[in-house]
Amino acid sequence: MKVNITETVLRDGNQSLIATRLPFEDFAAILEKIDEAGYYSVECWGGATFDTCLRYLNEDPWERLRKIKSKIQKTKLQMLLRGQNLLGYKHYPDDVVRKFVEHSILNGIDIIRIFDALNDFRNIAVAVDQTKKSGGHAQGAISYTISPIHNLEKYAQMGKQLVEMGVDSVCIKDMSGIMGPQEAYDLIKVLKETIKKPVFLHTHSTTGLAPIVYYKAVEAGCDGIDCAISSFSGGTSQPATESLHYALTQSGFETGLDVAIVKEINDYFKPLKEKFIQSGLLEPYVLGTDADALVYQVPGGMISNLIAQLKQQNNLDKLPLVLQEIPGVRKDMGYPPLVTPMSQIVGVQAVTNVLMGERYKSLSNELKAYLKGEYGQPPGELNQDIVRMVLGDEEPLTHRFADDLEPGFEKAKKELGSMAKNDEDVLSYIAFPQIAENFFRHREESAALKVNYAIKKV
Ligand code: CO
Repeated sequence: MKVNITETVLRDGNQSLIATRLPFEDFAAILEKIDEAGYYSVECWGGATFDTCLRYLNEDPWERLRKIKSKIQKTKLQMLLRGQNLLGYKHYPDDVVRKFVEHSILNGIDIIRIFDALNDFRNIAVAVDQTKKSGGHAQGAISYTISPIHNLEKYAQMGKQLVEMGVDSVCIKDMSGIMGPQEAYDLIKVLKETIKKPVFLHTHSTTGLAPIVYYKAVEAGCDGIDCAISSFSGGTSQPATESLHYALTQSGFETGLDVAIVKEINDYFKPLKEKFIQSGLLEPYVLGTDADALVYQVPGGMISNLIAQLKQQNNLDKLPLVLQEIPGVRKDMGYPPLVTPMSQIVGVQAVTNVLMGERYKSLSNELKAYLKGEYGQPPGELNQDIVRMVLGDEEPLTHRFADDLEPGFEKAKKELGSMAKNDEDVLSYIAFPQIAENFFRHREESAALKVNYAIKKV
């Protein structure tokens, strides 16, 4: 049986270990080798790569994508997209979502993995539809969480819903790395029995369980897994490509990977890892194993955020109380998956409840917006007392938040005027207005410098 391997070093590995700071020039020379290795796909764009390109690396993310595509021509390029939120956390109007998807594919993306943090699939429908229209592979993702209302039946139902929407494959996205091996086995099995499309699994090595999780998933019929080349694997990143290949091959599965080439790829990334350790961008602790998430059923990243937050307020001794408070807040909110932005919203509320000594005495604006339905349909029942406290007699939204948004692309294009060289610039500006403007300005200045320099030389 074939198991497809997606290499994540350029996106999730990069994002999870070194805050997505890998500049294009650092990996340009290895792209052709990556293309030869036999990967099913290379996740190289979307997620935080877009933001960091513009904000920290002074790179045009679209140009990066085109450059990657020019060197990786056989292997599919994959990106991660947050449905109606694109690469951020606010909802964009449909015309912007369609343009963004269209241009992602025009510039080189083959597979778009599309998810919504609440699994409100109305928030991914437009992106899925446009991916299909633009000739791409739409992978519908289910945000994985553990709660009393999330059971196999519910996940199977979600898989069915995605297939009915027209996705080409389904991915279980355990973005916080809380899945256990038996859960993986049962979940993949029920999905394979329910839907006729390929099923992929994405997880992180944080708790140390990920390689066993993948192994059990493959035993249950999982079609593909996400791995990172070993020097950028482990800890908050994905399990190692080479190790999973080794284990699976030994048991009679085929990955299609060429071990010698994969070794060359890792030899290339090893010194880069060293460089990022030296510069302090790669913190050693993200490479370790942190099993706290299994005790609290709260993602590792969320626990470290809470610790930082409490430390800042000199209240670190309250951590056990906050961890006790989280399940209650989560229940009141209808058991949302604890991923961004819900992990922050629930975390902040739990801290506030504990520090104030009274529950829901103060609510964040984000939590109010969530209760109003602006993020989408909560997975379960909300605590109606809190809803009434915030909404009074007002009814929560039952339609998609994006339905109320005016088209945005042409308006942004006008705003930018001559600063935008193409539609891609307009999309960068819509996604990150301030940062994109700074980037455009810098780009013009350096172009002017180059012209001056050329004139002087003449
Ligand atoms: Co991930």
